Amino acid sequence: MKLRLDDLALFGGRPAFPAPVHIGVPNIGDRKRFLKSVNDILDRRYLSNRGPVAREFERQVAELVEVEHCVATCNATAALQLAIRAAGLTGEVIVPSFTFPATPHSVHWLGLTPVFCDVDPSGNIDVDRLGSVLTRRASGIMAVHLWGRPCNVDRLAEFAAAHGLKLLYDSAHAFGCSAGGRMIGGFGDAEVFSFHATKVVNSFEGGALVTNDDSLAERARSLSNFGIVSESEVAEPGTNAKMSEVAAAMGLASLAAMPAFVARNRENHEAYQAELAGVPGLRVLDFDHRERNNYQYVVLDVDVAIAGVSRDVLTDALRAENIMGRRYFTPGCHRTAAYRDRVHAPMPGTEELAERLVVLPSGTATTPRDIAVLCQVVRFVVSHAAEVAASMSDQVRAGVEAL
Ligand SMILES: Cc1ncc(COP(=O)(O)O)c(C=O)c1O
Repeated sequence: MKLRLDDLALFGGRPAFPAPVHIGVPNIGDRKRFLKSVNDILDRRYLSNRGPVAREFERQVAELVEVEHCVATCNATAALQLAIRAAGLTGEVIVPSFTFPATPHSVHWLGLTPVFCDVDPSGNIDVDRLGSVLTRRASGIMAVHLWGRPCNVDRLAEFAAAHGLKLLYDSAHAFGCSAGGRMIGGFGDAEVFSFHATKVVNSFEGGALVTNDDSLAERARSLSNFGIVSESEVAEPGTNAKMSEVAAAMGLASLAAMPAFVARNRENHEAYQAELAGVPGLRVLDFDHRERNNYQYVVLDVDVAIAGVSRDVLTDALRAENIMGRRYFTPGCHRTAAYRDRVHAPMPGTEELAERLVVLPSGTATTPRDIAVLCQVVRFVVSHAAEVAASMSDQVRAGVEAL
């Protein structure tokens, strides 16, 4: 228990955790089931190219998110590119500025131009600002259901239809979530999930394009396999985005355990909310409990004016304690070296969130005790905000930032 300021690791105390507590530690499903499946795969000698395990994974994903088609891929970034190609996008694609860099990168790598649009206070693309970034070169929007909270899907569909734009969703965070009671996966022209190791359901690396559009699905499927459409025909230049059998086996084991993963995430989220309730200036972002949520991300909003301590000071203090909160998605894609030379408009919504939010550890590797200890540190830092902020010399900060 931290009682005095110099109990904080930042000021020489013993860290609250002996080893780093990371966010996104993978959820592992039924190991025996997975290993048996791997053995079967080896016995069959069918390792890739849409084998029976990948097909079963696709079937189960499509069923869970209530769509017609699922194309399983090696990762979500590749699936985003398939979606862009299969939907026939050209020129500019509007993307939110507050997202993981894979969203704009997937557009850029295909030789198209990502055009950033600011986000609203929820962190999702601000539909009211779309008009101000729309040009005649735009062919589509790629929106992101940030941290599993749905975009305004109705208004986005209206805007896209009114301007003749395709609508894609980067739903990397939103597997198992719903919008207005409908499962995420069936919105827009296509949606893309990530099954990366850090996601609620993982296949080591993996992703999926899902859609109800038959021809888009068929084209994406062929593009994922070099553009091959028959033994002697390649319809167009494709790529190799296929999911391997062993990845699909992990995905199936993970899917089978998903209810337990989500339940645990929910318990963690509730524990954070209870532990931090009433701490001035802090708010654990809530979920809309009328929707289905995967509760995968615990996001803390720090209002420096009330807490007396900034998100950065709090995060640095936590890191010194071996609590590795992450400042997602700071500073906003438009301010990273990859894009800042060509983005000149300020994105005030993104810039504000990029200064306030920190993602905290959750998932099945995070124990109730971890959360209790972590929150005790948070409460201590906020209750000693003035002293902590004042005592953090430049030297200490530099040391922490290097962590
Ligand atoms: C919003 C978003 N889009 C895309 C990706 C890329 O996913 P993958 O690692 O499966 O390529 C991520 C990864 O975390 C993400 O957060």
